[in-house]
Amino acid sequence: MPRHVAVIMDGNGRWAKKRFLPRVAGHVKGVELVREMVRACLERGIQYLTLFAFSSENWRRPQEEVSLLMQLFVKALEQEVEKLDRNGVRLRVIGDLSRFEPRLQELIRQAEANTAGNTRLDLTIAANYGGRWDIMQATNQMLAAQPEKRDGWLESDLEPHLSMSFAPEPDLFIRTGGEERISNFLLWQLAYTELYFTPILWPDFDTAEFDKAITSFQQRERRFGRTSEQLVEKPNA
Ligand code: IPE
Ligand code: IPE
Ligand code: MG
Repeated sequence: MPRHVAVIMDGNGRWAKKRFLPRVAGHVKGVELVREMVRACLERGIQYLTLFAFSSENWRRPQEEVSLLMQLFVKALEQEVEKLDRNGVRLRVIGDLSRFEPRLQELIRQAEANTAGNTRLDLTIAANYGGRWDIMQATNQMLAAQPEKRDGWLESDLEPHLSMSFAPEPDLFIRTGGEERISNFLLWQLAYTELYFTPILWPDFDTAEFDKAITSFQQRERRFGRTSEQLVEKPNA
């Protein structure tokens, strides 16, 4: 089983369009699939689930869609957090939260605080998140932490400041909806992640589809720069 699964949940709009429904109907259905995905991770013992819900570029969408997405986010926090908590899920939201309405920021803060003691599943929602933003904010924090240091910075100096420093790097990345791109999601952390792209639209991505992605992951050989023979000789070296 992968320890950490990161997902770009794409295709809500097209799912709705196919049914002659407004785009937001696709987002509403998409939230249901998030619930299903969380349940599937709990059942399979996957420790970290990270979901891209809103990118720093998604503000460019029509204002009406942006505001409906924000309302959905608020509603999901109001309605789901208690159940997440009961199921041992710890919720975190990563991204530049300062651009959200105070009410949403407060709900996020409360949800994170209320679930901080849970250990069964680490659920992270990336909202107003961008991979480049993350690297830059980490760089700024790193430089501020040791202002006297001039050079010789290491990857390990930066890593504690990245938004996902609490988690191992994703083992499996899934993007639904047919596009084969990263769209400024976790850039630093996906360096050695296995990538899985599927044309299935997010609202159709059920547990059976998730299991296909896991099976694909399980059939891959992760070499991290080594040769196949090295892995057979000393699998953990
Ligand atoms: C993903 O679905 C959800 C968000 C970006 C919030 P889209 O809304 O991008 O759906 P498509 O790509 O237009 O089908
Ligand atoms: C990426 O989806 C972000 C989320 C799923 C939240 P988009 O649908 O916005 O990505 P692009 O712009 O088509 O690459
Ligand atoms: Mg899209």
